Amino acid sequence: MNNDLPISIIIFGASGDLTQRKLIPSFLNLSRKGRLPKNFSIIGFGATVFTDEQFRDHLQNGAKQFAGFNFTNEEWESFAPHLFYQQGRYDQVVDFQNLAKRLGDLETETTNRLYYMAIPPTLFPNIIEQLGATGQLHENGGWRRVVLEKPFGTNLASAEKLNLQVHKGLNENQIYRIDHYLGKETVQNILFTRFANTIFEPIWNRTYIDNVQITVAEKVGLEHRAGFYDGVGVLRDMFQNHLLQLLTLVAMEPPASFSASHLRNEKVKVLSAIKPMTPEQVSTNTVRAQYKGYRSEAQVNPNSTTPTYAALRLYVNNWRWKGVPFYLRSGKNLSEKQSQIIIQFKEPPLAMFPMQTMKPNMLVLYLQPDEGLHVRFEAKAPDTVAETRSVDMEFHYAQAFGQTAIPEAYERLLLDAIQGDASLFTRADEVETAWSLIDPILQTWETHQTPPLGIYRPGSWGPAEGYDLLARDGRRWLNEEARMMLES
Ligand code: BG6
Repeated sequence: MNNDLPISIIIFGASGDLTQRKLIPSFLNLSRKGRLPKNFSIIGFGATVFTDEQFRDHLQNGAKQFAGFNFTNEEWESFAPHLFYQQGRYDQVVDFQNLAKRLGDLETETTNRLYYMAIPPTLFPNIIEQLGATGQLHENGGWRRVVLEKPFGTNLASAEKLNLQVHKGLNENQIYRIDHYLGKETVQNILFTRFANTIFEPIWNRTYIDNVQITVAEKVGLEHRAGFYDGVGVLRDMFQNHLLQLLTLVAMEPPASFSASHLRNEKVKVLSAIKPMTPEQVSTNTVRAQYKGYRSEAQVNPNSTTPTYAALRLYVNNWRWKGVPFYLRSGKNLSEKQSQIIIQFKEPPLAMFPMQTMKPNMLVLYLQPDEGLHVRFEAKAPDTVAETRSVDMEFHYAQAFGQTAIPEAYERLLLDAIQGDASLFTRADEVETAWSLIDPILQTWETHQTPPLGIYRPGSWGPAEGYDLLARDGRRWLNEEARMMLES
């Protein structure tokens, strides 16, 4: 397939937030960097009534507000003529015929097409069917690809059904299921740290690693998404996708290459090595909680039991990881925004120095903010006979590569989809395997009401039960240490 042909990018849900905040700023930046094909059009499709001009103004305002970079008027003026709007409804074949006609008018030669679904997944099957029925998925020298936004299903059964439905109109290699965490530079750097170096891999296993802690803490609450969130909760919103993806990158075997199939095969193997929990295991290996005041938020059911915080203890049952706990946690309205992965190594087998404090080595991958990596080790404190002190070695993106080095995750993912590289997108079997782990937890929470729903104070680090989960194993969350390393 030729990726240098002209391209039409069609966005469903074009009047929504995602388009204004993420998609258009990302396309703008790709265009400024000269990374889009020379001849490109972006066609927004949505229910709102806009002329092309109004659509462009709306997007310009959005880009000014939300783009994480500065751009000049000239740059916008040269980008804006590529933007068009086609008003339409998602369930009317005539509106899809109109879209097909509009594309036909805009495309003067063989053109590739990228369809982006920035809409709820319940609409995917119908849109794909309409696109098929109006001949828009037919590859006639130019490729047809579809990017699907999350959430991909609400449980295993619905994800399987959705896969079947989208496969009716598309081959798997035309489908790009997006998880924006995989587009983050620091998340990709997990693979580079592990596999572009030789020093980490020999110790990256159960012989040297005591436990792995993955935290994705959010300071924000529901923002304007309460209506969506209350039916979803933290496990579906953050764990089924982002946290399990982070886990696969930490735990996977070295793939034979960086190709999409090699990489995704290894990720699926990790997920398949985690055993779905029994209800008894759910009550001892999971924590669920809601922040105080959640039930009085607008659009939230006053009796809601939707968790806004969860912590899990998972085991990857393979040779590399047998017996090493992976602790995962995420929540809204916590003390601060902090995504990090902490690898805690085992203690030295013997304290041979008289004043030795037994602090295990730690490797911290700071995903956001303060993107970087620290390694903590012990050194002899100067002018003491035999005292040890913790010190660390560090790498920070901003220092090493300059402030502007980290692009928005969507920018990378959109470019990959245009170039046909699906490495950072999730495959059908991967999504389903992830759901097969989350499903039993959701079911036990919902049907057995166990473990009990904890309550935590907004602005805290979550409920006491979240600490107990590790304390029972004689461990604790190490984010305070990780913060001290950052501040030192
Ligand atoms: C989204 C979730 O996928 O990720 C949101 O739906 C969450 O609830 C967001 O706030 C977090 O992403 P980031 O990039 O801000 O860490």
